[in-house]
Amino acid sequence: MADLSTKYLGLDLPNPIIVSSSGLTNTLDGVVKCAGAGAVVLKSIFEEQILAESARLADSSGATYWHTEAADYIRDYGRENAVDYYEDLIRGAKSETSIPVIASVHCVSAGRWTEFASRFEAAGADALELNVYIFPADPLRQTARENEQAYLDVVRAVKKHVGLPVAVKLGSSFSSLPEMALKLMTVGVDGLVLFNRFYPFDLDIEKMKVSPGAPLSTPAEISTSLRWVSILSGLTTCDIAASTGVHDGAAVVKQLLAGADAVEVCSVLYQKGVDHVATMVSEVGDWMSRHGHASVADFRGKMRQEMSSNPAAHERVQFMKSTTPRG
Ligand SMILES: Cc1cc2nc3c(=O)[nH]c(=O)nc-3n(C[C@H](O)[C@H](O)[C@H](O)COP(=O)(O)O)c2cc1C
Repeated sequence: MADLSTKYLGLDLPNPIIVSSSGLTNTLDGVVKCAGAGAVVLKSIFEEQILAESARLADSSGATYWHTEAADYIRDYGRENAVDYYEDLIRGAKSETSIPVIASVHCVSAGRWTEFASRFEAAGADALELNVYIFPADPLRQTARENEQAYLDVVRAVKKHVGLPVAVKLGSSFSSLPEMALKLMTVGVDGLVLFNRFYPFDLDIEKMKVSPGAPLSTPAEISTSLRWVSILSGLTTCDIAASTGVHDGAAVVKQLLAGADAVEVCSVLYQKGVDHVATMVSEVGDWMSRHGHASVADFRGKMRQEMSSNPAAHERVQFMKSTTPRG
């Protein structure tokens, strides 16, 4: 039988399919249902929730700057005792499952919250995923360079407080993603998660108001992540988890061939249930058997850009008559 075990962030995963941070991983019951996965990333706790806890402990008003999204989130999910709840979730997940448990923090700054990261380590988290996104809406408040620097500051600050492996989950919108990836490595990042899929934006033209777009990805959305995994896996020495649009075993195989160490999966599990992980695992195993691969290491990275007979094809972004029937 094919051996699907792999290593990600120095952790031993029984298979490369990680349940990504979402409502599926917000409760102990939810996490226990993920036990057939390679690992689990808990729902992100917000930096502002941690600051609110810190303010409560210091008995002062503390947290003053709340970014817009956090204000909505905290109204919905509550600010009190969020850190206690998160520590309990980590402890429970560690005692009720045997897979690695990755804590996740949504953050926008390297502020005081970073000191609290050590509490997640003490509770038993195996790694930390930083879900960083600084919305670049106001060019006068923060330049592109300052924005990028904030990512680096966050990683450096967190690494000061924990010995855990630290991954950063990024969006794909950087002027130079390879430069950003290399800079993140200089501050000690252990892994990159490529990419987050942000809450979608739409307009309702009948009610004349903002409305949410489709909350779940489609399989076609794998393309951006697949391209960049295939390019960055050859340029970086840190681990890579592919995220967005991975819906079946074939998509897992593609990302592993492109050089990912693991994949993170969310939308398809909302659609088909968490048991779909087992189907994906068996599809990957079937593909490995058909292609004569005994282990993931046998084929991982075989189709990254570096190994390609046509490296330019990985960077092709313009439609050309010769390559598309529709011209
Ligand atoms: C309902 C929902 C909640 C999510 N919550 C988080 C979160 O708290 N933190 C995070 O980093 N990503 C969050 N995500 C993003 C997912 O982890 C994932 O990166 C994204 O959905 C793309 O993967 P997919 O195509 O497999 O869905 C959420 C996604 C959904 C649909």
